Amino acid sequence: MKSFYHGEINEFAQWHDTDGNIINASDGGIIFANGKYHWYGMALRPLPMASGPYGGQMTDIGVVMYESEDLLNWKYEGVILEVSHDPESELYAPLRFERPKIIYNDKTGKFVLWCHYVKYPGNHGRGTGDADIGLAICDTVNGKYTWLGYSRPIDEYGWVRDMTVYKDFDGSAYLIYDRHISVPNVGDDRCLYVVKLSDDYLSFTDTYKRIESAAWREAPVILFKDGYYYIVTSGLTGWETNQAKAFRTKHLLDEWEDLGDPCVDDFTHTTFNTQGTNAFYINGTDKQIIMLERHNTKNFLECSYVWLIPKLENGTVKIEYLKDWKI
Ligand code: GAL
Repeated sequence: MKSFYHGEINEFAQWHDTDGNIINASDGGIIFANGKYHWYGMALRPLPMASGPYGGQMTDIGVVMYESEDLLNWKYEGVILEVSHDPESELYAPLRFERPKIIYNDKTGKFVLWCHYVKYPGNHGRGTGDADIGLAICDTVNGKYTWLGYSRPIDEYGWVRDMTVYKDFDGSAYLIYDRHISVPNVGDDRCLYVVKLSDDYLSFTDTYKRIESAAWREAPVILFKDGYYYIVTSGLTGWETNQAKAFRTKHLLDEWEDLGDPCVDDFTHTTFNTQGTNAFYINGTDKQIIMLERHNTKNFLECSYVWLIPKLENGTVKIEYLKDWKI
């Protein structure tokens, strides 16, 4: 890769690793450790969208990782969270480890991976294991992560959909997730919630906040600048893209203010035909890259990555599309 090439907004540009293979790390993130960036995500399949065990949106590999020093040359590091071929296992494939996010715990020295776990065959149902949060842990950033199981934050009634994890500057960490419940005599309710994690990042605490303004939103990505936390979200149209909406707050567990669509000149109102995944700092700077993804439902191996630099100024967030750029 010579640059972050995205092309036209209807294009599925391919990024390759240093072996020449398509980078296959869906909806993951980047963690900087041991002097290198590590890019991880769920490895999708070269198949179209389909339900049951047939779709490309499921994995039969697991969560994979790549490393880089310059964000352009990515060397494949291998599978860090492996599926199982034992039908009795929670990791029996194909399944989904959607939107995996890794954070490092300074106190325990462990790398902690949270994901949206959807057991075999990977359909978004409502039963146990169909709508949960999965947890895995490792002593090294790129080692084999040990699966610790799955659970539901807040209570067992809330189905887990999209999620992310955010490590704050004081070392506290938060799970942000789309909670879906059925309210008797009212109907369905969906809203983003922020849940504080325990000090070791291995469980949920009872401290949480419903982001009232972010009802019926998903694909949360957190950004920070000058005292404001921002969350960029999508609407709920599955793999079809839709208009982004951002919110801001000064305290993660406080009210969040609706800022509208952060995308500049996005005339198609589709977040430039992408959906948000994660954000990370360019090492040694206060610049963050927002990672978005253009899902290819005809062949999930050919989803493409769109990385942009959001402008965070005076309490606002603006995202401009660039067809091609480098740092
Ligand atoms: C999207 C969501 C993805 C995935 C997909 C369909 O809206 O952001 O993470 O869940 O729906 O299954």
